[in-house]
Amino acid sequence: MTVRGWQPGSWREMPIRQVPDYPDQARLNAMEARLASFPPLVFAGEARRLQQALALAGQGRAFVLQGGDCAESFADFKANPIRDTFRVLLQMAVVLTFGASLPVVKLGRMAGQFAKPRSSDTETQDGVTLPSYRGDIINGPEFTPEARIPDPGRMEFAYMQSAGTLNLLRAFATGGYADLHEVHRWNLGFVARSPLAERYQDLANRIDETLRFMAACGVASAPQMRETEFYTSHEALLLPYEEALTRVDSTTGDWYACSAHFLWIGDRTRQPDGAHVEFLRGVKNPLGLKVGPTTDADELVRLTEILNPENIPGRLTLISRMGAQKVGEKLPPLLRAIQRAGREVVWLCDPMHGNTHTAGSYKTRSFDSILAELRGFFDAHQEVGTWPGGVHVEMTGSNVTECVGGAHRLTEADLSANYATFCDPRLNAEQALELAFLVAEELKARRPEGAALPLIAAQ
Ligand code: PEP
Ligand code: CO
Repeated sequence: MTVRGWQPGSWREMPIRQVPDYPDQARLNAMEARLASFPPLVFAGEARRLQQALALAGQGRAFVLQGGDCAESFADFKANPIRDTFRVLLQMAVVLTFGASLPVVKLGRMAGQFAKPRSSDTETQDGVTLPSYRGDIINGPEFTPEARIPDPGRMEFAYMQSAGTLNLLRAFATGGYADLHEVHRWNLGFVARSPLAERYQDLANRIDETLRFMAACGVASAPQMRETEFYTSHEALLLPYEEALTRVDSTTGDWYACSAHFLWIGDRTRQPDGAHVEFLRGVKNPLGLKVGPTTDADELVRLTEILNPENIPGRLTLISRMGAQKVGEKLPPLLRAIQRAGREVVWLCDPMHGNTHTAGSYKTRSFDSILAELRGFFDAHQEVGTWPGGVHVEMTGSNVTECVGGAHRLTEADLSANYATFCDPRLNAEQALELAFLVAEELKARRPEGAALPLIAAQ
């Protein structure tokens, strides 16, 4: 079924922001046709399953963990970075599941997170001005005029990299790597030598003990312990690519964006009458919407009506990214407006994008501001009586030095040691794990003693 007045290409009639200026339209058209002939990357049934899991998070019966690179890169298309990020996400998920006694919905910013919105169309270095880097699916990061020309050919490699990454993630999720009995083995790599290692070992020991106890009681090992569900997501910014991968699901007749399970709209492209909102309103996937400090409450309610007219639980996730200084003032009015309007949403906290600053030539974020925003997010929900449904973080499984602070107390002087991001600064594996422990504590502390389900589960 097609949503009223919508077609996969109806976004083309709407005002659009953050579009690359492709010099060769004929090559762009040819690439769109080529992608449209490729197989979809995900199956609509998986997106529906994810939506059901997200619906639980909206009711306070699950918690969402969304994480991965700010921008995936063609240069990093190797097994180890994928495995390492997946492994840390698994570790974080166990910490959260154990801490909050809730199922954790695992959503990678992976296998398709290639297109970047930019605050400025140009970048100037040493008096030379070039078009900004917009992500590997559009142009190259090198500071040369040739690299910065948008090239439609890049979409094909992005598709192939997404397929390869997704294939490995699926293999890890169901092929034994994610088996809970392997919980100790996820603690390898540099995190094993960090101050967090002992804390994680402790938790892993408790999980081991529980599994042995259950086995001794004759409880057969459930499939949920042997494998995990892992979903993919990215910002649906490059609409020619997204449209080419949008297909009718033969089992329901509905349109699905088949580049990932979950797609979100960025803070810069969330205009209610804009192209990005138009495109996403017509696909049935669960959707995200970034909610920054300039969001107007009435407009937000209107956006939820456009993107989820039938008010289906799990369909729409609002990802708050206010900044540590602003979250206390900006978020509660939005929570109230959504609550008053009776809109079904899942609220996530992205504590990264409102907390970026520059230190010398590096963009960075302080672990303390990230935690401060998370606390502000939890406080706001407590104040209003809504459920803090999850977190959205930029992180990686490797030992980068991009965000300052954390257990190793990285300083601005340490940033140059291993600053590897192609866009925004990410938490390294250890900082990501530390964040998971702190979030688990917040969740535990805010749950009434002995409650089987959190605050609003009875609604
Ligand atoms: C991002 O998630 O990388 C991003 C650009 O976020 P936002 O749209 O919230 O600025
Ligand atoms: Co980012």
